[in-house]
Amino acid sequence: MINTKLPLLDLHRHLDGNVRAETILDLGQKFNMPLPALDVEGLRPHVQVIDNAPNLMAFLAKLDWGVKVLGDYDACRRIAVENVEDAMAQNMDYTELRFSPYYMAKTHNLHPQGVVEAVVDGIKAATRGLDIQVNLIGIMSRTFGVEKCQYELDALLAFKNDLVAVDLAGDEIGFPGALFIDHFKQVRDAYLGATIHAGEAEGASSIWQAINELGATRIGHGVKAIEDPKLMDYLRDNRIGIESCLTSNLQTSTVASIETHPLKQFLDHGILATINTDDPAVQGVELDNEFEKAAPLAGLSESDILQAQKNAIEIAFLSDSDKQALL
Ligand code: HPA
Ligand code: ZN
Repeated sequence: MINTKLPLLDLHRHLDGNVRAETILDLGQKFNMPLPALDVEGLRPHVQVIDNAPNLMAFLAKLDWGVKVLGDYDACRRIAVENVEDAMAQNMDYTELRFSPYYMAKTHNLHPQGVVEAVVDGIKAATRGLDIQVNLIGIMSRTFGVEKCQYELDALLAFKNDLVAVDLAGDEIGFPGALFIDHFKQVRDAYLGATIHAGEAEGASSIWQAINELGATRIGHGVKAIEDPKLMDYLRDNRIGIESCLTSNLQTSTVASIETHPLKQFLDHGILATINTDDPAVQGVELDNEFEKAAPLAGLSESDILQAQKNAIEIAFLSDSDKQALL
């Protein structure tokens, strides 16, 4: 159960992995895209995981239509606004929305910097006067290679004051963190936080690498940390946050079942682990499902869930005074 005395946070949520099927249809028609179906029900299997994917890359393919239909900057702005609406509908107090401007820009040859501008503008407009706080995390999509990631990072750094951190997402096996050491030096030089997808498709060594060589203070997924007792201690002792995404990890076949997910062990070990969504529209489930259904299945008690909520406040990319303001 969500403890409603504490604020509700989602710290790992892809804006470009949360495009509504209705919006994909609408934008697809607007930009004359040959969509695989002409109604929401027909489109769903193409944009949502129905049966668990065999691996991460098969899962990520389901995100593609959501960005292929982004025919102009207004469309990018629209999905940013709708993401705020979706977070509001979940009664969130604070969320960090992450997005990959190159992935969003690619199909229609938009400029990634224009995409960042549109997303920043959409978030600012949509949150004005509302009781929700949203911060943005820029993503480098490693799947497109080292040079495209630099191009993407340049676009993100042009708006560094509108971001709280930079992430590395996409093909973890094909493009290991070692390729991005220079990119993350630039991230740190810009005084931005670093959270990195690691230990999802790759092993515990990818988590060590993200921390030691890229400067990550938070890890997306980090499931494979369970295989390395020294790493478990290190994460606890150095207060490295883990952004767990239970349903996502099942749907990417990172774990065999929710019941065997290591989140409970992370919490029992004193690691600052948290409960998050990942790509809600693609997964077909929202944050309430992760708290109400997935977390109990993973063996979390009410006090474990409370601890995960406290951990989220602790590891959020917020100043101490902003954290206090949330409480
Ligand atoms: N892993 C890597 N990249 C991603 C993910 C993920 O779970 N979701 C969206 N992009
Ligand atoms: Zn993710």
